[in-house]
Amino acid sequence: MKNYLNNFNLKGKKALIFGGCGLIGEKVCEAFLSAGAKVNVLDYDKKKGNELKKKYKKFKFNYNYFDLSNLNTLNQNINKLLQSYGCPDIFVNCSYPVTKDWKLSTFKKNNLNILRKNIDINLNSGSWLAYQICEKMKEKKIKGSIILFGSIYGFLGQNMNLYKNTKMDENMNYSIIKGGIINFSRQLASYYGRFGLRVNAICPGGIKGHVKGSAKKQDKKFLKRYTELCPLKRLGFSEEVANSTLFLASDASSYITGTSFVVDGGWSII
Ligand SMILES: NC(=O)c1ccc[n+]([C@@H]2O[C@H](COP(=O)([O-])OP(=O)(O)OC[C@H]3O[C@@H](n4cnc5c(N)ncnc54)[C@H](O)[C@@H]3O)[C@@H](O)[C@H]2O)c1
Repeated sequence: MKNYLNNFNLKGKKALIFGGCGLIGEKVCEAFLSAGAKVNVLDYDKKKGNELKKKYKKFKFNYNYFDLSNLNTLNQNINKLLQSYGCPDIFVNCSYPVTKDWKLSTFKKNNLNILRKNIDINLNSGSWLAYQICEKMKEKKIKGSIILFGSIYGFLGQNMNLYKNTKMDENMNYSIIKGGIINFSRQLASYYGRFGLRVNAICPGGIKGHVKGSAKKQDKKFLKRYTELCPLKRLGFSEEVANSTLFLASDASSYITGTSFVVDGGWSII
């Protein structure tokens, strides 16, 4: 009998992980390393990057500084990276670039400048990067896997009741960015499918951890309400998102492309 577990093996595969120093990114690194991949993290958090280098020194792991928010030098930086690193077999973007005033992206406080800047440094830079990687894979005839990070809030509205009397807020700009990422992953999958490339968007629901743009943990009231409404009665763990990322990166998902792969404990079904 065939050993189906071999389909999850990433031995000999080169994985490029943007945002690999983050809450989810670090677990994606671990999942890929445990499956035998050679992992290269690109992130602008030098301190965490160097910590991870030490932590994973027994594995095929490397970290390099990369700032995705620098649009003026983005093309140049991508070219330099691909020249020195070569072409990856797997590309993941789980970075989360935002401006310093990201927390003002609420319906009451938003302004056009915040919206434009965040679209630029997140949606535009990430989309351009993904496109460049796809082109490189096509040129090198690599049948690669590309995984972009959407969110349930790329296809659902936020439940405003969750935020009532908490220090957390809804976010108008997030929905625009995540919606764009999800549909661009479909368009990439449609175009590059003929070259053997697969492109999927992971869409996590609420993951236990921090609040973006703030040092604070998620509010207790928010956690209680979210938990009650979620069919699995809890938030997700970053390891659970990493499991799905590993699946989509590996040959175990060889006939899956263009999906919004939802990891949300059932949040979006009701
Ligand atoms: N955590 C959640 O609850 C959740 C839920 C749904 C979707 N997501 C999505 O998952 C992805 C990862 O989320 P996370 O919670 O791990 O985020 P995080 O903030 O913990 O990690 C993001 C990483 O991106 C890096 N980064 C930020 N700006 C950068 C830049 N300009 N250039 C290079 N690197 C940069 C950070 O240094 C960090 O290591 C994001 O796309 C997020 O929208 C997260």
